[in-house]
Amino acid sequence: MSNLSVRSFGSGFHWGVSIAAAQNEGGYLDGGKSLSNWDTFARKQGKIKGSNTPCVSADFYHRYKEDLLLAKALGFNAFRFSISWPRILPQGTGKVNKEGIQFYHDLITECLELGLQPFITIYHWDMPQSLEESGGWTSPLMIRWFKAYVQVCAENFGDKVKNWIILNEPLSFTALGYMLGKHAPGKTGLQNFFSAVLNAALAQAEGGRVIRSSVKDAYIGTTFSCSEIFPHTQSADDIKAANRIDILMNRLFLEPALGLGFPRDDDFPMLLDLELSTSSWKYTSQMQFDFDFIGLQNYFPLTVRHDRFVPIIRAAEVRAKDRNVPHTDFGWEINADSFYNMIRRFSKYKQIKDILITENGSFFKDTVEEGRIADVARTSYFQNHLHSVSRALADGIKVRGYFAWTLTDNFEWNEGYNARFGLIHVDFKSQIRTIKDSGHWWRSFLTSY
Ligand code: GAL
Repeated sequence: MSNLSVRSFGSGFHWGVSIAAAQNEGGYLDGGKSLSNWDTFARKQGKIKGSNTPCVSADFYHRYKEDLLLAKALGFNAFRFSISWPRILPQGTGKVNKEGIQFYHDLITECLELGLQPFITIYHWDMPQSLEESGGWTSPLMIRWFKAYVQVCAENFGDKVKNWIILNEPLSFTALGYMLGKHAPGKTGLQNFFSAVLNAALAQAEGGRVIRSSVKDAYIGTTFSCSEIFPHTQSADDIKAANRIDILMNRLFLEPALGLGFPRDDDFPMLLDLELSTSSWKYTSQMQFDFDFIGLQNYFPLTVRHDRFVPIIRAAEVRAKDRNVPHTDFGWEINADSFYNMIRRFSKYKQIKDILITENGSFFKDTVEEGRIADVARTSYFQNHLHSVSRALADGIKVRGYFAWTLTDNFEWNEGYNARFGLIHVDFKSQIRTIKDSGHWWRSFLTSY
């Protein structure tokens, strides 16, 4: 990728790194914060690899100044972080925790002083445990609780921050948390999933409206995970299986946000059940919001085949390692062309104005040798994926920014601390940070004007 030049992305391009409160902050009971759904979930036996918890994590709560300096030193001009709901509203609603608000004020001030444009994610999967116990995303009250929380964020930070992201990947927290039981709160079943999907789709649009009416000149987005889906063979069954997974992974939340309602497909009765059980047709206009940008998050494509033994979706993944194609240490296929294809595909929706790549990155097992982490595979992952962004820009697609996932190693949800995505290595015992070779590559790339 020798011809990759930062200049070709344009001067106003947002070059950022993304982090999330539950993954980075730690300080789980400091400064008046209450327990989150993730603090609670992680304590349950067998939920997180190595019985890891997010209690201390990368200790960003105490070390944010050092981490922001590192982000700056690597050449970034934007910083995406999320707000911990239980830190600013420990009871979920009602009394605001001044210490929590102060923490985010200090963080935002520090970003601005360093020339890092703050991008706030309002919900990146952690909510006060008390709300989770009252039903969390399965409860229709969630829309009211969420609006009140967004209002607190807007009133407190809206004078300093223009860039707002309402939700992080609604499909991930609804499917993993309420259908498959792998993420907090560990619920399962279609009925939980359907209610969570409807409530999240409604809250997403309501959140956008709250920010629009309370923050002057706000630039408002929300993020979606996406993956290009390939049928394993060209058989009609595999093609249909790929289409079902595509609907689930790439359209289920995006299309309602754009005003198109939940997708429909004769071959996918689950969608009809979703529509019937939630009466979602009544809510098409309420699930829509005129977002200024859509945050596209991409890590891998998927290859799937028909499998009649898998309930409802009747499809199964054919893993990258079984197909002998390059993959990360998560087993995720590495395919930068599929990233380009997804950007192109998003750009075809006429309702989408700007696209920001709000997450992209990779997990590889790092080794520290004499203080150095030579993460060659991660570096080339970034280079190839940036090349895809530059191709999309050359096509005239309005990609306004790229945020690498992630600044430092952190708590990777149910995978705990072993799945490292950072540009900066963290020794979780000493909290010592060491810039990986990929981080050094970013610095040379971003400062190569
Ligand atoms: C995303 C998620 C991030 C991070 C990343 C890597 O889906 O938004 O929080 O965990 O995956 O797995």
